[in-house]
Amino acid sequence: MASTRDIEKAAGVLRGGGLVALPTETVYGLGANAEDSAAVSRIFQVKGRPPSHPLIVHIGSADLLGDWVEDVPTTARLLAEHFWPGPLTLVLRRGPRVPLVATGGLETVAVRVPDHPVARALLAAFGGGVTAPSANRFGSVSPTTADHVRTELGDAVDFVLDGGPCEVGVESTIVDVTGGIPSILRPGGVTREDLEAVLGHSLDVPSTSHVRVPGQHPSHYAPRARVVLVEPEKVVAEAELAQELGHRVGVLLPAPSPGDPVKAHAVVEIPRSAAAYARGLYGFLRELDQQGCDLIVASLPVEEGLGLAIANRLRRAAGPRSTV
Ligand code: TXA
Ligand code: MG
Repeated sequence: MASTRDIEKAAGVLRGGGLVALPTETVYGLGANAEDSAAVSRIFQVKGRPPSHPLIVHIGSADLLGDWVEDVPTTARLLAEHFWPGPLTLVLRRGPRVPLVATGGLETVAVRVPDHPVARALLAAFGGGVTAPSANRFGSVSPTTADHVRTELGDAVDFVLDGGPCEVGVESTIVDVTGGIPSILRPGGVTREDLEAVLGHSLDVPSTSHVRVPGQHPSHYAPRARVVLVEPEKVVAEAELAQELGHRVGVLLPAPSPGDPVKAHAVVEIPRSAAAYARGLYGFLRELDQQGCDLIVASLPVEEGLGLAIANRLRRAAGPRSTV
């Protein structure tokens, strides 16, 4: 776990224009000083991310929001009060402190206050905003441990802060509050039901096929193995058939698991609680890759609560690979 000295060192790296991998409650981020265009550009290089894909600016507290955005509508204030620090990202009008390189040229900016003691300590010690996408190569599975980051990015990152495994495990919920009615751009750690309870009205959730936000390609959050989604009751039969056909099959096995062992290369039993499933999801996908699976058979959970974000990530992991 990162020490106070590590935090100081990381803040120094940010001030010097370097890149720091930092734990958040959702996934690990690859951070740079938000106001240093050259450092922000390096994030795109290291990730292999197209420059049009906007980043999230992480700040230390909701009170600082006005320093980074042009105008804070009442809805944004309300959501920030309820959910920050936490896994919620708000899209607002870009303020002059945010360079266009961080927003992929957009006049809006995504901002969030993370809820992880190490991230909060770093933001306090650094004092400024930290732009940080998930600390993985573009399109692949987000890291939920410091080891995932080291394995994937190695020397490309100047310093890695270890904050243990991420509590939430899927990325933040992104809500656009620039228009009249807020809309969910990406389901995540704050559930739609929780947002609706605070807002007092229902929210639309984009279907995967309609999402046109930059940086939201169909294939994303994807392991090396191809992912196939079937009905929960067909997972075992589909997996065993593919295994017989010569694939090295990994299975994300929904509960209740069958009495007999599944004839596949590797099997992960899905935790019963959605929170535990979300926490484990990316680790499971990495694990199945590591075991040499070339095909992962899974099903979608019920799309309520955290199940909405899990289903969104599984759909994207199963999405067509050619559209980058
Ligand atoms: O939980 C998270 O959100 C993690 C941690 C590290 O904070 N970060 C994360 O960042 O998932 P990234 O870069 O992997 O995803 C950021 C998403 C992208 O889908 C991008 O399109 C969207 O945020 N985004 C950023 N700025 C935006 C903007 N101005 N308008 C619409 N979407 C935006
Ligand atoms: Mg990402």
